[in-house]
Amino acid sequence: MQITVIGAGYVGLVTGASLVELGHRVTMIERDPTRLAQLAAGRVPFAEPGLGDLVAAHPDRIGFSHAIPEAGPGDLTFVAVGTPIEGGESDLSQLRATADQLRPWPEAHVSVRSTLPPGTSVRLPALLGRPDARHASTNPEFLREGAAVHDFMNPARIVVGRFPETSEEHLARLEAAYEHVPGPRLTVDVAAAELIKNVANGFLALKLSFVNEVAQLTEEYGADVDTVLAGIGLDARIGSAYMKPGLGFGGSCLPKELLALAVAGRKRGLSMHVARAAALVNDEQQDRFARAVLASLPAAARVGLLGLAFKAQTDDLRGSPALRVAQRLSEGGHRVVAYDPAVHGATARAALPDLELADAAEEVFDGADAVIIATEWAEFRDLDWGGLRDRMRGSGLFDGRNLLDAAQMRAAGYLYRGIGRGTVGEPAPARSTP
Ligand code: UDX
Repeated sequence: MQITVIGAGYVGLVTGASLVELGHRVTMIERDPTRLAQLAAGRVPFAEPGLGDLVAAHPDRIGFSHAIPEAGPGDLTFVAVGTPIEGGESDLSQLRATADQLRPWPEAHVSVRSTLPPGTSVRLPALLGRPDARHASTNPEFLREGAAVHDFMNPARIVVGRFPETSEEHLARLEAAYEHVPGPRLTVDVAAAELIKNVANGFLALKLSFVNEVAQLTEEYGADVDTVLAGIGLDARIGSAYMKPGLGFGGSCLPKELLALAVAGRKRGLSMHVARAAALVNDEQQDRFARAVLASLPAAARVGLLGLAFKAQTDDLRGSPALRVAQRLSEGGHRVVAYDPAVHGATARAALPDLELADAAEEVFDGADAVIIATEWAEFRDLDWGGLRDRMRGSGLFDGRNLLDAAQMRAAGYLYRGIGRGTVGEPAPARSTP
């Protein structure tokens, strides 16, 4: 098929490049000139494993443009523009700008991948300037950053949100686009589709906040959090996925969709206790971690920060717990020296101006009173932790992602504190191997 994808960001570029891989011809529409120039030069403007190769794999079947070409948008158009949340309300300006792009083609088949807060999808045909909803649908994405290409090709489900008027022809075109992609298809009304998306992320966030609260309990009651979570995860109703405690979850999705659920409920007078509590716990978890570090520091300390991105395999700083912790330390009068393999100077300094950036992980140990692991990059596990302690002034090691072995680190002379693994200095409770 000839497919147009409007928006060459995290969702749009993965969608477009994957559709090319599936055999389609794709035109990517990107209105940001800088990003468009990077893409035209074969560069992917953000870190996503495997995406660069995918974009470059079939140059004859992928094109980049700032506007839909004269020939028109082809058989199907996916809209994947940003819908950032400001204070719980979605900014739909990019969607409205897309309406201008699509205006010359009232008959175009359009499916919206952008995440929309509850109650928004029903307005899409009007928002996109469509004459009616015959050729319109939503197709929410469930891509994890750092695993987005895998998740596109191996979805747990493909969700299509249809309007009452959505035609069979339109649905057939969507199915043809995904012809070679495995997984169950769910064609539901747009209200259900948008709630499936928002609630999925809200539930994942809720699960993590509960796991992080369990970690707080195990610290207080002297158990090992992984042992406890392994014990409950063996119950298939609970499961063992997405059960890693940490200093909190970040990203542009989980925090945003959790807030969207709470705001959507509050608009209708619902209390949304659980969604709001999950968001509160996530903020508390980050501040609790920062407080533990602060309590261990001398005045005007120097702290090494390993990891800035909100998760490994990405350079995305949106909602990153690492930045929130670094901010708390700066506010406490301490210097933070950070290293992240995927995040470079300009981006990091834009997020936190007084952040000092190191060119290598080892540098953050020099003269440091404490070192923090905030992002679970595998390369941090392989550092020469025994040797690096000698470069420090202090011996505090705060493992915000339980990346390291507590006993090994304490044997190496660190005052080790993980998440749910006993407090600083005390021997970790024995971990029973399940
Ligand atoms: C999430 C959803 O997983 C995805 O389905 C949706 O489409 C977009 O939002 P993403 O935010 O990119 O994906 O990454 P994810 O792997 O979900 O991690 C989100 C945050 O949770 C990260 O900060 C990560 O460090 C944290 N996390 C994840 C944990 O703390 N523990 C875990 O076990 C898993």
